[in-house]
Amino acid sequence: MLRTVVRVNQPGGPDALTLMQEEAPLPGPGEVQMRQTAIGLNFIDVYQRSGLYPMPAPFIPGQEGAGVVTAVGPGVALAVGARVAYAGVVGAYASVRTLPAERVVLVPDAIADELAAAMMLKGMTAEYLVRRCHEVKPGELVVVHAAAGGVGQLACQWARHLGATVVGVVGRREKAQLARDSGAHHVVVAAEQSLVDEVRRLSEGRGADVVYDSVGKDTLDASLDCLRPRGLLVSFGQSSGMPPPLALARLGGPRSLYVTRPSLHAWVHSRAELEASSTALFDVVSRGIVRVRPPTTFPLAKVAEAHRALEARQTTGSVVLLPH
Ligand SMILES: NC(=O)c1ccc[n+]([C@@H]2O[C@H](COP(=O)([O-])OP(=O)(O)OC[C@H]3O[C@@H](n4cnc5c(N)ncnc54)[C@H](OP(=O)(O)O)[C@@H]3O)[C@@H](O)[C@H]2O)c1
Repeated sequence: MLRTVVRVNQPGGPDALTLMQEEAPLPGPGEVQMRQTAIGLNFIDVYQRSGLYPMPAPFIPGQEGAGVVTAVGPGVALAVGARVAYAGVVGAYASVRTLPAERVVLVPDAIADELAAAMMLKGMTAEYLVRRCHEVKPGELVVVHAAAGGVGQLACQWARHLGATVVGVVGRREKAQLARDSGAHHVVVAAEQSLVDEVRRLSEGRGADVVYDSVGKDTLDASLDCLRPRGLLVSFGQSSGMPPPLALARLGGPRSLYVTRPSLHAWVHSRAELEASSTALFDVVSRGIVRVRPPTTFPLAKVAEAHRALEARQTTGSVVLLPH
């Protein structure tokens, strides 16, 4: 069977994404082959394409997809025809792919493929951020950067559901309503307002309990400065560039801060964690507690355009590539 894939032969800009046709691989022992109907775009794809996260070239980027099982290798119990999705397995930019069966999960009937591809990676990230990496509790003041973005929209809704007061940060005023619609009680427009001043004002000087910072370089200082004593910075991304090195001494003194730098991989490492995280996600989405907006879609052949839009801060919510 022929498949369409996007390869990176040499790291570089969006034009490094090269479309080609090739024979689809067959599943080996423990593997599943799937025909993908929707592929999630994530910022990590940009880091791998550009070389910020070095990859052995050539490689097929992409970490997330949904579709139908077309064949299984020895030892795999999944049925051909089952609807499945996955997140965090590189090689997603393809109309057909193989991957370890233990990394895929069944998708509930109520969740369409495009939505599954829009939410697996970002939604399981939101899950571990607000329920496990830090357990958000009623009454906490929680700051979420890039609140109108893919992970941001889901994290805001989930944190609010858990009883927190959510401060969402957006780059431009045009994104403020979307952050509000995604559960942010208060919105800070980074280009116009000081996050530290706003959090101080909203918390009557106390500071935030936890800051979820996916922006990195541009926001590290403000994220630390707006925490309460013994508050936690969860630095989980770098959309503006890698956060600069942090001197441990800066965390000490009267505020005695905590910092963690987590990755989804580490939080859904075992099969049990993957199942628990995806089940919790499907549950809040199915019950309407967390709404996943219909993603912006691009044909897989226009993947370079999709990367340009994500890097230029033009997207909101999730972006999904359609291979067929
Ligand atoms: N550690 C993990 O487990 C994990 C898992 C998933 C994602 N992530 C990270 O989380 C971040 C968000 O991922 P996402 O896919 O949901 O993307 P996204 O948040 O939808 O898009 C990135 C957003 O970051 C903001 N941003 C601020 N400065 C920027 C800059 N200089 N360039 C580009 N964007 C900038 C923009 O929002 P404004 O215009 O509103 O500022 C932009 O829309 C990424 O850094 C990603 O790597 C980490």
